[in-house]
Amino acid sequence: MQIGIPREIKNHEYRVGATPDCVRAYCQAGHRVLVQRGAGEGAGFDDAVYGRAGATLVADAAGVYGAAELILKVKEPLAPEFELLRPGQLLFTYLHLAAYPEVAEALLARRVTAIAYETIQLPDGSLPCLTPMSAIAGRLSVQQGAKYLERRFGGRGVLLGGVPGVARGHVVVVGAGIVGTEAAKMAVGLGAEVTVLDISQRRLMQLEDLFGSRVQTLYSNEANLEQSLQRADVVVGAVLIPGARAPKLIRREHLASMPKGAIVVDVAIDQGGCAETSVATTHDEPIRVVDSILHYAVPNMPAAVARTATLALTSVTRPYALLLANLGFDGAANERLELSKGLNTRDGAVTHATVAAALEVHRGG
Ligand SMILES: NC(=O)c1ccc[n+]([C@@H]2O[C@H](COP(=O)([O-])OP(=O)(O)OC[C@H]3O[C@@H](n4cnc5c(N)ncnc54)[C@H](O)[C@@H]3O)[C@@H](O)[C@H]2O)c1
Repeated sequence: MQIGIPREIKNHEYRVGATPDCVRAYCQAGHRVLVQRGAGEGAGFDDAVYGRAGATLVADAAGVYGAAELILKVKEPLAPEFELLRPGQLLFTYLHLAAYPEVAEALLARRVTAIAYETIQLPDGSLPCLTPMSAIAGRLSVQQGAKYLERRFGGRGVLLGGVPGVARGHVVVVGAGIVGTEAAKMAVGLGAEVTVLDISQRRLMQLEDLFGSRVQTLYSNEANLEQSLQRADVVVGAVLIPGARAPKLIRREHLASMPKGAIVVDVAIDQGGCAETSVATTHDEPIRVVDSILHYAVPNMPAAVARTATLALTSVTRPYALLLANLGFDGAANERLELSKGLNTRDGAVTHATVAAALEVHRGG
């Protein structure tokens, strides 16, 4: 099969759909891999390295989309890419079609077989192609929180680990899933005082098993949240109710009780955010200040660490991409059932129930 790796065109998206190492594996399996020049630059992979791995370098996106039967990307296609997509072409990437109905319409019109990383689901409910990005966002959340706590960024000038004789900073993590656990790991590593809240007893027990007395676990309820926020330097918003918008747990009136210059890193912003006062920001201008509290609410945090994120993402997508290239969609989905859940559009029809429902609402509106 001909596999195409275009350069991402979304603002500040530096990740790439395949590393040179992946390209070597695809070529060794007998496939031809077309890589758009500069595709891996943002993640630190030069054209020459792709060339040595066996890729055919192509000057522009049209050259990649025009020849490839399977396109490996990171983000959903944008308007300039729509017209390059061809009927029957396999597209394997993050899509979030419920949030981007215009992309769904384009995939339907172009009759693309689109498989979304984020809806590939194992029988235990886990999302193997989403987990590494949540892990990255969780770890990054504390790193960003620590940075913007610095005085020159408007933070309250607290060092999370403190120093002997001076109190540590306090990190409050709301939601103890993948993001929350990784955030807690980083906060503990920096020597901060850490409180984690969740509604799931199972998750809280797992956290206690992991961290022992280094982390205070609390049931997520109004009283515990209020008390935790009053002493918070960094708050990490990491709740998720699958398929729904994030609950607005941190309300505007809570901000007044928090120390001035504290920061809310609302990782859940891609689901609307769990602070009432969060508005999506960008890597260019990540911080908004509301009532003297900093808010960091960047929906594509992993792009900031494009190299790590590319290596993590392509490690989990590579086996699926190889199967798709070897067997086509039906053969691949026969071998790995979770790929069926990944299928979002085919032959001009939506094949995923949630996406179909979201599109219905959009069309109705
Ligand atoms: N901004 C980014 O770049 C970025 C990157 C990756 C993930 N995310 C987002 O981060 C969020 C968390 O992702 P995850 O993978 O950790 O999800 P997850 O499902 O692993 O964890 C979510 C946790 O929230 C808990 N929860 C639900 N309601 C709660 C409540 N009222 N109070 C406290 N906890 C509650 C759940 O019990 C669960 O443990 C998602 O919205 C995800 O899309 C954002």
